[in-house]
Amino acid sequence: MIFDEKFIDLFVNTTSEAAYASSLLKGKGNKIAADQAAVDKMRFHLNKIPMKGRIVIGEGEMDEAPMLYIGEILGTGGGDEVDIAVDPLEGTNLTAKNLPNALSVLAVSKKDNLLNAPDTYMDKIAVGKNVPKGVIDLDNSVKKNILNLADHKKTSPTKLTACLLERERHNNIIADLKALGVKIKFISDGDVTGAIYAGLPEFNVDIYLGIGGAPEGVLAAAALKCLGGQFQARLILNNEDEIKKAKKLGIKDLNRKYDTDDLVKDDVFFCASGVTDGDLVKGIKILDNTYYEAQTLVLHYNSKMNKKVTNKYSL
Ligand code: FBP
Repeated sequence: MIFDEKFIDLFVNTTSEAAYASSLLKGKGNKIAADQAAVDKMRFHLNKIPMKGRIVIGEGEMDEAPMLYIGEILGTGGGDEVDIAVDPLEGTNLTAKNLPNALSVLAVSKKDNLLNAPDTYMDKIAVGKNVPKGVIDLDNSVKKNILNLADHKKTSPTKLTACLLERERHNNIIADLKALGVKIKFISDGDVTGAIYAGLPEFNVDIYLGIGGAPEGVLAAAALKCLGGQFQARLILNNEDEIKKAKKLGIKDLNRKYDTDDLVKDDVFFCASGVTDGDLVKGIKILDNTYYEAQTLVLHYNSKMNKKVTNKYSL
């Protein structure tokens, strides 16, 4: 499929409009309303794009989410068949509390190219480009990964930075990192951004690791693939209901370790627009009460596109 400029613009407009809609609710303490505003707008704009789009990563299953549910068909019906992964508001808490790094995110690929992941947790590990395969592995201990990475980078573990969500479930990882003297960059939410830190050298994050949402994992894998990094993951299925969800999506090996290319098979396009100001992109700015400005990180695997686009939209 062709990700030409016109097609890319339509997706950039989609995340920009969704970001704007949720930005109106930033700092209002209502994460559900902020999410809903982004979902409505994203769905509206996706439906106008000339494609036969299918949501593979969305707001949940059809019976849980009336909009942008897994399997929902979107677009005008003309054009290519595509898989769409969306997180209309990545960082619902961040938006409700008006904290940095809330984004509106999507990824698009040819049909059957994105993993149909259930809405469960996922164990993740990510590094940037120039780290050969085999240096890190999800099945290694934290210690082995850090020592291997330090070896490869010809430095000591104390010079490395690891990013992870600040959660109790990560206490063992945190203890291992501390024992090795690794610097830790904690994030309170938003592990798509967390993984992207590892893919962009300017953030000086050597590795992202820990457990977060599986849908966010597929989106982060899309971004890391475009950035030439590596992303490995394994679903965490905690109960019968989650196992059922995974099986329903066609997942046979419930313990499978996924590499970047298993999560995102081929060419992929990724974009993320800022809701609140963040490290990757600026948040929505309303100017003169007549228009707003949205900044979007735009990545495309085949063309190696990696740029920030700032667009103005009239109100
Ligand atoms: P929402 O925007 O859906 O609230 O998700 C934010 C997030 O921090 C994700 O980035 C991350 O994958 C997940 O929540 C982690 O889940 P939990 O907060 O349960 O640890």
